[in-house]
Amino acid sequence: MPTRRHVIGATAAVACGAALTGCAAGEPGPAIVPPGVKGKVIAQTADIPVGGGLVIDKWKILITQPAAGVFKAFTASCPHRGCAVGRVANGIIRCPCHGSEFAADSGKWLKGPAGAPLAEFALKVDGSGIVMV
Ligand code: FES
Repeated sequence: MPTRRHVIGATAAVACGAALTGCAAGEPGPAIVPPGVKGKVIAQTADIPVGGGLVIDKWKILITQPAAGVFKAFTASCPHRGCAVGRVANGIIRCPCHGSEFAADSGKWLKGPAGAPLAEFALKVDGSGIVMV
């Protein structure tokens, strides 16, 4: 379980630029699951509001629920300069530092200086737990 986390309002990513190379703008690249996370329950589904998200600070992972029962995990590190993305609202993830925006259902870069998507992590829902795979 995360030791520190933030629930992001219902109306509120290791990135390509930060950890990987060869990612094309607008297309989420493969993500490397942070060490020690694979196979762990990192959140409960009830912790993620529909239309919102939850940042797990310990691993810099953002989990969103863009539609009821649909969960996605992205790096919480903005590919622009590494700020933690924060608010998720109306299907958009916003970076508070310079205003980049990303799609909450895919991590796709929408606007702002980031120029690259949020890398997506694979997850599965096991009962009420969200497990990184
Ligand atoms: S660090 Fe996110 S937009 Fe600059």
